[in-house]
Amino acid sequence: MRKKIIAGNWKMNKTPKEAAELIETLKGGINTNMVDVVLCVPYIDIIPAAEALKGTNISLGAQNVYFEESGAYTGEVSPSMLKECGVEYVIAGHSERREYFGETDEIVNKKLKKIIEHGMTPILCCGETLSQRELGVTIEWIRMQIKGALNGIAADDVKNIVIAYEPIWAIGTGKTATSDQAQEVCGQIRQAVRELYGREASQSVRIQYGGSVNASNAAEIFAKEDIDGGLVGGASLKEEFVKIVNY
Ligand code: 13P
Repeated sequence: MRKKIIAGNWKMNKTPKEAAELIETLKGGINTNMVDVVLCVPYIDIIPAAEALKGTNISLGAQNVYFEESGAYTGEVSPSMLKECGVEYVIAGHSERREYFGETDEIVNKKLKKIIEHGMTPILCCGETLSQRELGVTIEWIRMQIKGALNGIAADDVKNIVIAYEPIWAIGTGKTATSDQAQEVCGQIRQAVRELYGREASQSVRIQYGGSVNASNAAEIFAKEDIDGGLVGGASLKEEFVKIVNY
């Protein structure tokens, strides 16, 4: 049985002070008995968030990382910096990073390797645009993203990663994929992992759905066979996140 994993992606929201306050509000209500819970906060909030999360079972996540160890890379943050601050999960290849910061499957692949090498868990994002969906190329596109991002990673490592299926047309739009649409693609992602890395890896890898997840649709989406939880944007910035986790 795969344990569900629900992660909040705060994106570029909350100052360090606000981050600590939000965690104080959330942590009392969140029940971590049945699910893994992760908060992916902005870099600058990592240290105060780690402090605020002490004594809880909620894990700390980052939203990005650079793929070099150190050096002249102005503005970047290395995997060991994150690790030392207590970061356990790192989002890689979010569609916003692909769209606004030019991240390619090749860059995402380099990041994944570094995240794994430093003993953290990547949350690999993939997803199609509305026009790709309308053209009927969703599955093909996502298989390509997965194959590119996982290139050269061993099956033993693949089985511990998290993949988040986030249809771009459902992000921040209030327009959620139906639970059947989400299940269809998550099932295909598992199938792609199976073809590339074998049955064991495909059965252990955890696949999340992300895109306008909220307290009223979470239970139906998370009940689907191949959906092992969610990556939550907007609703993770509010008390509503407690309801999503305790669905
Ligand atoms: P929303 O939940 O705000 O649609 O964002 C989803 C997302 O991009 C999480 O990474």
